[in-house]
Amino acid sequence: MIMASEPVCVEDFEPYLKARVSDAIWHYYRGGADGEQTLRDNPLAFQRYRLLPRCLKDVSERDTSTSILGHRVSFPVGVSPTAYHGLVHRDAEIATAKGVSNAGSAMILSMWSNRSLEDVAASVHPDTPLLLHLNILRDRSRMEAVIRRAEAAGYKAIVATVDQPMSGNRMHLRLNMDIDSNLTLPQMFLPGDEITQGRAVALVFDGSQALTWKDILWLRGITSLPVVIKGILTAEDASEAVKHGAAGILVSNHGGRQLDGVPATIDVLAEIVNAVRGSNVEVYLDGGVRKGTDVLKALALGARAVFVGRPAIWGLAYDGDKGVEKVLGILKDEFSLAMALAGCSSLADITPDLIATMPHSKM
Ligand SMILES: Cc1cc2nc3c(=O)[nH]c(=O)nc-3n(C[C@H](O)[C@H](O)[C@H](O)COP(=O)(O)O)c2cc1C
Repeated sequence: MIMASEPVCVEDFEPYLKARVSDAIWHYYRGGADGEQTLRDNPLAFQRYRLLPRCLKDVSERDTSTSILGHRVSFPVGVSPTAYHGLVHRDAEIATAKGVSNAGSAMILSMWSNRSLEDVAASVHPDTPLLLHLNILRDRSRMEAVIRRAEAAGYKAIVATVDQPMSGNRMHLRLNMDIDSNLTLPQMFLPGDEITQGRAVALVFDGSQALTWKDILWLRGITSLPVVIKGILTAEDASEAVKHGAAGILVSNHGGRQLDGVPATIDVLAEIVNAVRGSNVEVYLDGGVRKGTDVLKALALGARAVFVGRPAIWGLAYDGDKGVEKVLGILKDEFSLAMALAGCSSLADITPDLIATMPHSKM
């Protein structure tokens, strides 16, 4: 890993995280489950798809903007929920959110964030779409409390993670990450609670193995916010999500941290898009998005937008809010360039026939 003096692509930011945190924290962010097959495959899989550009289209003006659940973003890349930004930067999720906001992007705030959802909302431009990630807890009153707070603070959706009946077999846990006891988890606890990492884990995984689609109905029943289901990898589950009233599906394998050996997300995207055709459900993707051409490929295969997890953390380590903004800015510039080179001037021009179908394109 080479430390670039001035990062010019997303991967250039990664060494800054490695250099700035302990080994245990580095592996916590970097790592995946078991042999990390899925973790490795997520970015590699994008390279198995080939693009077929169209020439002599007027691409002098390109509009990269789109909307997520009706809320405008300046380009189709948002930030996925990742825990504990306080381990990386003193301003934690406040810095991440400011960077996202200045980039004109959207953010899914993790339930495991170290800053309160209210403080995060107060730190962004009013038109920045913030969504709140939740694990569905057995403790329903605690869930309702946090959902009411999200509604009051103007969050645009609840993103329910469904690929975590138990935590994946993460190799980095061998390293016994030392979490600073000053780091709070304000979305997990009620005032007066004793706040520890152990209690948070117990809270999330108490009853999580018994969750079913009925819990999605319960969630929808207690809030008027749209519900996005995160962690879908099959057409069968995508159809269930539609049936159970999801507003969106985030195709995700949790960044390779849950069941190792599942496909890269880009490889299952098209069949999920196909399964929800005819509904209003928006399909997003995360996992291994590192290049503007990855964004173009995902959109050509039917995603409305993509999200990034680790790259935002790398940017946070590089330079707080400015680093996050820079990572997203690079993705936006690369995406705009990829659109031009492919002959697209708006997102409507990004269609499946940009993807080559010849057999050797999947190598
Ligand atoms: C350190 C870390 C913590 C994460 N925490 C959560 C979480 O609490 N809930 C969740 O649904 N996904 C979580 N994820 C998964 C991300 O939301 C996202 O799916 C993944 O990072 C996308 O892949 P990428 O990192 O290759 O962009 C986490 C990922 C990382 C790396």
